[in-house]
Amino acid sequence: MVARSGFPFRLCFAVVVIALGPKLALAQAVADSTSPAAVSAGRDVFHGPGTCVVCHGSNLEGGPMAPTLKTHPWKDAKGGGYNAILSVVMTGVPGTAMVSHPGGISDEDARRVAAYVWAVSHGKTSP
Ligand code: HEC
Repeated sequence: MVARSGFPFRLCFAVVVIALGPKLALAQAVADSTSPAAVSAGRDVFHGPGTCVVCHGSNLEGGPMAPTLKTHPWKDAKGGGYNAILSVVMTGVPGTAMVSHPGGISDEDARRVAAYVWAVSHGKTSP
């Protein structure tokens, strides 16, 4: 008869938790950031104080000043994930009309507007 110690199994479990824990936490954080409330508030920032609408268009279709923010091969916000979009809004794209915190919006509004752009570009909401 083989005596099965619980140790290796517990060790495996611990390794899985340690390996996946931060990723799950990050996924949860992104889910909170892109909540319907954040998306809805972000829509107001986009069309209001953020001035995004002036360059990116009222349907995020882009224009002579700036690229579309709908589903497209993202140039600056690589991959088009929430964090990549947020990073562009926070830091801007040096040497272009895309400045950091357009319209002088707060970090909080930057997160909201990033949630809105993420949601539209992922087909979660309409512009
Ligand atoms: C004055 C015009 C202007 C305004 C206002 C503006 N943008 Fe931009 N935006 C640009 C330009 C130009 C680029 C492309 C930069 C480049 O050449 O790479 C850009 C790029 C971006 C990108 C990256 C697109 C990609 O393909 O990776 C995102 C995301 C973005 N803008 C979001 C916003 C948001 C959100 C707002 C409002 C808070 C905003 N922009 C306001 C001009 C503007």
